Amino acid sequence: MTTLWSGRFDSAPDAAAFEFGASFRFDRRLFEDEIIGSLAWGRALASAGVLSGDEARQIEDALAALLERGRSDPAFVDGPDEDVHSFVERLLVEQLGDTGRRLHTGRSRNEQVSLDLRLYLRRRIPPLQRLVAGVVDALAAQAEAAGDALMPSFTHFRPAQPILVAHFFLSHAAPLRRDCARLDGARMESDALPLGSGAIAGTAYAIDVDALARDLGFSRVVDNSMDASSDRDFAATFLYACALTMVHLSRLAEDLIILCGDEHHFFELSDALSTGSSMMPQKKNPDPLELVRGKSGRAIGHLIGLLTTIKGLPTGYNKDLQEDKEAVFGAEDTVSGCLAVARSVVNGLTLDRVRAAAAASGMLLATDVADYLVGRGVPFRRAHEIVGAIVRTLIAEGREFESLTLEEWRAASDRFESDVAARVTPGASVAAKRTPQSTAPSAVAARLAEVRQWLERAGR
Ligand code: ARG
Repeated sequence: MTTLWSGRFDSAPDAAAFEFGASFRFDRRLFEDEIIGSLAWGRALASAGVLSGDEARQIEDALAALLERGRSDPAFVDGPDEDVHSFVERLLVEQLGDTGRRLHTGRSRNEQVSLDLRLYLRRRIPPLQRLVAGVVDALAAQAEAAGDALMPSFTHFRPAQPILVAHFFLSHAAPLRRDCARLDGARMESDALPLGSGAIAGTAYAIDVDALARDLGFSRVVDNSMDASSDRDFAATFLYACALTMVHLSRLAEDLIILCGDEHHFFELSDALSTGSSMMPQKKNPDPLELVRGKSGRAIGHLIGLLTTIKGLPTGYNKDLQEDKEAVFGAEDTVSGCLAVARSVVNGLTLDRVRAAAAASGMLLATDVADYLVGRGVPFRRAHEIVGAIVRTLIAEGREFESLTLEEWRAASDRFESDVAARVTPGASVAAKRTPQSTAPSAVAARLAEVRQWLERAGR
């Protein structure tokens, strides 16, 4: 196998070491970006007078044909080459001879690989965002279908206050919307042209990098050729966005695993997205959700892996940087697979209104009782104590607020009136909330409408 750097060496590379260092097995995924970048580089060389019009045309035609071939037959993108850059150049030279050999003038693989990864992220992030929006869409649909259904919320995983089921679903849509914005940030960070940086010091040919940036659809050119050759911040930002998306999916999965279980059973998982046990006939297991939770470790690992790889590098390209691609591809695959299954699981949930509402009552109304007293002029800290004492008695006697007679209420505080019973229900509790981010039905309806508008705006 000839390499792009064989001239300086007496002997062929050690086969095992060559294989160890080769990246074609995974960077073939950058094939289309490699060609797009090379097409533009050929045009830039022609504008700089390095290639004649005829040479540029031949290169352009040959690269376009390769792109066509690789797109229609992915198996074509294969061979004994060191990496995708070597592969494309080999085919070009096989076809055009010396004309093909001119394309690498003034260019280094160090900047090519950065370019390819930037182009790759630019085209792969929007589909990923659409998958995130797909989960938001499923959550919004469940929120809509839930209507005025009630369930408990939890703090410290102990029942806290009644909420609308819709509020629960939208609470998982909010972080996913932030993930979309974070992915936008990664896309914008990738949006800088590294070509013109050469191997590290720049290029000695009169390349109009601004025109080249425009040609490739980049909004700007990198600041510094040395920085550009080893900058993988954009990849790290992407991995952070993926890691955090997985953290959010993992928490959604965890909530659903618990709340679909027999102990709570606010929701039922669709049979199609559950699994059975080989031994225990009664089991209905949430395997897809457990895998989403489990796979979050991969995405977090890819982020930590890349940060660790780049932290000790001397300035300039180092081969360590080749580790960036498997991290990016691995995170992308993990996130996209998990988003797709999360969407299906959420879409397939059935709400158990009776169980969910039953769990939203009882001691969860204690704050509402305290708020009632505040409304009658009792200082909150004092009200908290009074209600705490009522709760203690009720628990000891195995009773709930609704069993209290007016006399019993008034024994605890003479501020209680006959309207207290109507004020201390799960429905009254949610209706009493006043802020736009609260579980008040009107607030939740407004947020849901806003989520729908976001989904529409995003064209997702
Ligand atoms: N396969 C290499 C990578 O992924 C491409 C750049 C190689 N540059 C070099 N000087 N060896 O980083």
